[in-house]
Amino acid sequence: MKYVVALLSMLLLSTALSQEPDSIKERRMRWFEDAKLGIFIHWGIYAVNGIDESWSFYNGYLTYDEYMKQLKGFTAAKYDPTAWARLIRESGARYAVLTSKHHDGVALWDTRQNDLSVVKKTPAARDLVTPFCAALRKEDLKVGLYFSHLDWSHPDYPHFTRTQKRYDTDSVRWQRFLTFQRRQIEEVATTFHPDLLWFDGDWDYSAEQWDAKAMRARIASWLPNAIVNSRINGYGDYATPEQGVPIATPKSRWWELCMTINDSWGYQGNDRNFKSPNQIIRIFVDCIAMGGNLLLDIGPKEDGTIPQEEVSVLKELGRWTKKHEDAVYGTRAGIPKEYFYGPTALSKDRTTLYLFVDGKPNGPLLIKGLKNKINRVWVVGNGTKLNPKVMMKMYWSQIPGLVYIDLPDHVLDPQVTVIAVLLDGPVDLFHEQ
Ligand code: GLC
Repeated sequence: MKYVVALLSMLLLSTALSQEPDSIKERRMRWFEDAKLGIFIHWGIYAVNGIDESWSFYNGYLTYDEYMKQLKGFTAAKYDPTAWARLIRESGARYAVLTSKHHDGVALWDTRQNDLSVVKKTPAARDLVTPFCAALRKEDLKVGLYFSHLDWSHPDYPHFTRTQKRYDTDSVRWQRFLTFQRRQIEEVATTFHPDLLWFDGDWDYSAEQWDAKAMRARIASWLPNAIVNSRINGYGDYATPEQGVPIATPKSRWWELCMTINDSWGYQGNDRNFKSPNQIIRIFVDCIAMGGNLLLDIGPKEDGTIPQEEVSVLKELGRWTKKHEDAVYGTRAGIPKEYFYGPTALSKDRTTLYLFVDGKPNGPLLIKGLKNKINRVWVVGNGTKLNPKVMMKMYWSQIPGLVYIDLPDHVLDPQVTVIAVLLDGPVDLFHEQ
């Protein structure tokens, strides 16, 4: 009977979610869409040797036992979640996502489902997620938690390494694994109440095998307002392109590019290939201009310190986002590149057009095909008023004139300069018949 009731309520919930009206989803997604920048944190025992998170044993770089020896070296001795949260705030991010459990199965919280946690198996010997969530909330940041569906350590998970499988088909074992996975997700959801659940590792099995639809419904019952990323076999809220993309605007209404700050997700001391603040800001600007978010990843050391190079990048990112906040938060995708050779964004009401200018132009900026009258142009974060010049506007023709804007050297930002163009109404572009 109990089972029937549970099943029925699950069915009702899943119908409720699939029928969630667009306007309710719009509301649920709003903080995310306005936030633009998040910080991803890959922290786990892989930081001890500074090797690939989980994949290093899966791909045979070292044995599973060697990988797990890192448990003994994970101390979290200098973990200062308050300092993390302050730095994240300073970077201009509005949310952060921490790996509560990566594919290696090592939980950063005191899971009741098994012993494989930093609490029970490492010198850190404490729950690292609770203070993280508290510190973020104190800084008014939204809390995101990453969770890997697949678990290469669990005796009932079929895959073990790339070449080894524990079993092929064994529905009892698989069901046992699903129960374990469901209970861990329930723990994460009901203990930490994240605003965002960031799943990963759904690729080995289909939505039916994972029972993803029911899981999504459970999440909605535990956390009705939470946002769920795409990696739950199609039952998520937004797309998660990774590294180096998107090149064109993703089809999905909501999306977030996740990207490493160097070439690694977790801390790897030998990876010196850090992107410069300029490279990161330009990619961030592309995300804004295409209407998406950037989730920039950092990898703290095993003791919880954030590498100095990453701190510097976050601080410079913070200088830039603070100065240009009007053009960042709450903006929407800009106008097509045919009208302005560069990234642009629009205010929510579409009456302010932001132009992102990379470097020092050789001549005036040019906007083509703009039907609106321009009320005012200024340099964002600096206030200098600029005087646009409209050329070739024929009074007898529908074709708008060319808008030229001279940009004096002294207003240029060392990274990307932003110009605000206030229009006489919502942006109106000319289309040739
Ligand atoms: C990939 C990798 C994983 C990493 C994730 C971040 O899915 O499997 O190691 O955590 O990307 O998006």
